[in-house]
Amino acid sequence: MRVKASDADPTAVQADVLLVPYFQEGGLDPLAAAADAALDGLIGRMRADHEVTGAFAKSAVVASAGRLGAARVVVLGLGRPRGLDGYRLRNALQFAVRDTRRFSARLAVVVDRALVAALEASDPVQGELAAVARAVAEGVALGNYHLAALRTGEDAGAVEELTVIGLGTGSEVAEALAEGAMMAAATNRTRELQWSPANRLTPAQLAQEAERVAADHRLELEILERPEMERLGMGALLAVARGSHEPPRLVSLRYRPKAGSKSGQVLALVGKGITFDTGGISLKSNPGMSDMKADMSGAAAVIETMALIAQMGAPIEVIAVAALTENMPGGGAIKPGDVVSAMNGKTIEINNTDAEGRLVLADGLGFAAARGATHLVDVATLTGGVVVALGQSITAAMGTSPELISQLRRAGALAGERIWELPLYPEYEVALISDIADMQNTSGTSGASSINGGVFLREFAGELPWVHLDIAGSAYHTESLWKPVVPWGPSGVMTRTLAHLPFQMV
Ligand code: BES
Ligand code: MN
Ligand code: ZN
Repeated sequence: MRVKASDADPTAVQADVLLVPYFQEGGLDPLAAAADAALDGLIGRMRADHEVTGAFAKSAVVASAGRLGAARVVVLGLGRPRGLDGYRLRNALQFAVRDTRRFSARLAVVVDRALVAALEASDPVQGELAAVARAVAEGVALGNYHLAALRTGEDAGAVEELTVIGLGTGSEVAEALAEGAMMAAATNRTRELQWSPANRLTPAQLAQEAERVAADHRLELEILERPEMERLGMGALLAVARGSHEPPRLVSLRYRPKAGSKSGQVLALVGKGITFDTGGISLKSNPGMSDMKADMSGAAAVIETMALIAQMGAPIEVIAVAALTENMPGGGAIKPGDVVSAMNGKTIEINNTDAEGRLVLADGLGFAAARGATHLVDVATLTGGVVVALGQSITAAMGTSPELISQLRRAGALAGERIWELPLYPEYEVALISDIADMQNTSGTSGASSINGGVFLREFAGELPWVHLDIAGSAYHTESLWKPVVPWGPSGVMTRTLAHLPFQMV
């Protein structure tokens, strides 16, 4: 998608669609009012007739019948100004573009001052012109993601050229638009991987995608297969892989800044890459099991983030580690009660083979530490419990470093992604007590499963500052209740946040 900032008159701008965001409260702002006037007040009349309400993410298409430079106007509801933030704006734009991209190859978006003011009220950082520009470019480009890519013979169309009117034409705005388009493109690649069925995206195939990213962006690449994993003592990752015919991989990408890493920091991003999670011998029940093709969302995010980190020239060294395997109940599969040793030497009683994410991450974290990480962030679709706690739009963060968590929250604000902290109080460690090994992988009771996952992972972070991001709710959306407010399907969550993170650490 090409992007440009323009101070053109919205009534004259040449485009297939002029997109006019519109609040549920208050009248039209100057730019939108000019478009309305050119249409003889049609939008205002539609409003009076309740054909246009401004309800969140509801859009109406109006043919401009030669009265404007643009062939059509799309009036996009943003809901109430209070409550609009970068996340909601991106979602609203995504909905509008999903619905209209068949005929909006050239799209112009009007950014009126009420919109900027609403964003600023949500968070001063999000109201800066560059932040607004990035949000608009990302929302539009995210709308280009094509869910039905596997359906033959369907041309979904895409916005190819985006013009943003109302933010001026300063170089900061132009750069933010370009950066937003780039960040959304990487997010969309994460989404394609998430949505790929497990028979088309095996651990080996996901490793190939990492190879492509490494080659395109001159990153150092390391791919471990079973024998090397055995040599390194990755008994936890190998245990999960035993039930599957697909061989596991551990992939690592490394970015080194040209000027050397600021203050010697090495940030490791460790992703859970279960290309399909059946639960193993602790087999899941059937409803929703097909969603488990996206249990590699964390791995996909850290791989695609590395492309952004290279393109943006992050100031510190970053490594991505993706722990890739299926979790299947094959004849060689681990059984409840088995005990395995992780790379750091700790023994784990596996009392539930469906808590496999923390096992592969245990060795992913161990590997990152062995490769010189000074800071650890893991990303995982770890627990269904996080959906119970926080729903579908929020990523849960847990960790040992308040500083790293606040840096992540700032990065999340820039990316338009929600992050909320859950605590790791010591009494929750009771969940780890095993009769026969250093720890067990689940507590066997149902409460606080997200925190229990965090408490388990903490054992593998050693003394390094570490944050765990549970994206089981935020990574993909298949619940019908959320359909009107959060774009259905994979979100690519954390791809952009993690790309912003290194810049927050210096
Ligand atoms: N991949 C699942 C978690 C998940 C559930 C992601 C729903 C997305 C939607 C994970 O491997 C898992 O099975 N977790 C168990 C942990 C439990 C056994 C402690 C869970 O959440 O039920
Ligand atoms: Mn599982
Ligand atoms: Zn899983």
